[in-house]
Formats: sequence, structure tokens, C-alpha cells
Amino acid sequence: MASNKTVILVTGANSGIGYETVVALSNALPSFHVLLGSRSLEKGQLALNDMQRTHSSSLKGAISVLQIDVTDQKSIQTAKDEIETQFGKLDVLINNAGLMVYQQMDTLTALRQTFETNVFGQVVVTETLEPLLKKSTDPYIVYVSSEQGSVTNRLDPNYQYRHLRGDSYRISKAAVNMLAACHRYNYAEWGCKVLAFNPGWCVSNLTGEKGRKMRLKMGARDPKEPAEALVDIIQGGRDDDIAKNGMVDVDGGVLPW
Ligand SMILES: NC(=O)c1ccc[n+]([C@@H]2O[C@H](COP(=O)([O-])OP(=O)(O)OC[C@H]3O[C@@H](n4cnc5c(N)ncnc54)[C@H](OP(=O)(O)O)[C@@H]3O)[C@@H](O)[C@H]2O)c1
Repeated sequence: MASNKTVILVTGANSGIGYETVVALSNALPSFHVLLGSRSLEKGQLALNDMQRTHSSSLKGAISVLQIDVTDQKSIQTAKDEIETQFGKLDVLINNAGLMVYQQMDTLTALRQTFETNVFGQVVVTETLEPLLKKSTDPYIVYVSSEQGSVTNRLDPNYQYRHLRGDSYRISKAAVNMLAACHRYNYAEWGCKVLAFNPGWCVSNLTGEKGRKMRLKMGARDPKEPAEALVDIIQGGRDDDIAKNGMVDVDGGVLPW
């Protein structure tokens, strides 16, 4: 029998936006069971220990660590089997795992690494978990994308981040946006709400330790902000925005594709 809890999987949740999203979800409702997805069980367990130490008085919903490497089909299938055995369904999938190649390397290697995680991984994770999402009465699929993937912004001469390069990352997030659009179309008939989400420029480990310090210094936002927005989204608070034609933005409304 399917669980009576709202079962939510956040991939790449041992760090950054994913980590804060698990905390915010658990803080929100005791009826949530949050699966803290991590490609390394050890890192996932360390993150959970840290959450329990730092937020012991506010956590309400259960949290379990789930090993899932989005570039490893066997790991994805095992994660699916575990969710099926334990809960019989999945209500919310937050495809958050992602990377930005910031080390020097040749273009083809950078593109392959970026797409392997940010795009191919998200497709395979979602399509593997689709049968479990179909068993939910109110399913949501979130793709954590980026305004860096907006073609409209890229060509806007006044766009604030126009001087940043990061072409591989931008191209991958544009592909994620198309993925969200395809799945929104494909899954509409069974009532699944699908969206691409822009979390804003946040302090996280996306560009390593040096990058984290630079983000802090430059006033990047706290990843708690997108985490709170994601809690609102999966509770239906942004359904009007999801129905619009664009990326659901952390600050409200949508951004152009
Ligand atoms: N921070 C920003 O300013 C910003 C802005 C727009 C969009 N985003 C997006 O937000 C999402 C979260 O990034 P973040 O900023 O929170 O960075 P982060 O702190 O580096 O977190 C990324 C997470 O993804 C995980 N990950 C990477 N490859 C994986 C794989 N193959 N399988 C499973 N997990 C994997 C990482 O695990 P490990 O710890 O094992 O590496 C980590 O837990 C990404 O999709 C990113 O593109 C971030």
C-alpha cells in the first residue's frame, strides 16, 4: 500500500540549495517524508547529521538519505526500487543535482561532463521515476534550472549577467528548460505539474570553495530563499506561475525562456 506521507526526493541534497531545501521541507510539515538524495552515502549521512544538529528543534518531517548518482543508471534504478518498496509512490521530484565546470579543460570534455549531469541525468532520473510519480494524487516535477539558460536574456544587451561566459553551463540549462517543457507536455494527461525553476544567484559549492567565498563577498543570496520558494511551489502556492510560459522565478512570476 502507498504511504500516506507526501514523499519528496531532492537530488544533490548534501550541499547548497538542495541541502537547504531538505531542511525547509522538513521544517514545513510533519506529513512530508523527504529523501535526501546524495551520490555519496557518506556525504548524505554527514549532511543529515549536520541538519539534525543545527535544526533539531524545527525539523518536523522525516528525512532519509537515499544514494542516487544521476549519471549512473544502476544507482538510479536501485533508488527507484527502494522508494517503491518503502513508499509505493513518489509525490514530488526535485531535480536539483547539477554542476558547473569551472576548472580549465578542453571544450568537448567540459560539455560532456556538464551535459552528463545537468541534462542526461535529469532525463533518466525522471523517466525512471515516472511510474512512481503516476501513483501520486498530486505529483510535481521541478527542474532546478538557471536564468543563465535563458536565450532571451543571453541576447538582451542590458542583461545584468551578460559579461559572464560559462557557455557549457548556459547551453545545458537551456536544454533543461526544453526538457521541462517536453515533460510538461508529455505528462499533462496524468495531471503532473512540471516546471523549470530559477533559484537566483546563491552562495553554494557550485564553483568550489574559492567560488563560495567570492559569492559571499559579492552578496549572492542565501540558498534558504530558493528553498522556501520550493516549499511554496510544491504546496500549490505557485500553480498560476507554473501554468505560464516561462521559468518559475524565485522572486515570483516567470522569466523568459
Ligand atoms: N548557486 C547558484 O547560484 C545557482 C544558480 C542557478 C542554478 N543553480 C542550480 O542549482 C542546483 C544546485 O546547485 P548548488 O548551487 O546548490 O551547488 P552545490 O552546492 O555544488 O550542490 C550541487 C549538488 O549536486 C550534486 N551532484 C553533482 N553531480 C551529481 C551527480 N552526478 N549525481 C548526484 N548528485 C550530484 C553535488 O554533489 P557532490 O557534493 O557530491 O558534488 C551537490 O550535492 C544546480 O542544478 C545548479 O545548476 C545554482
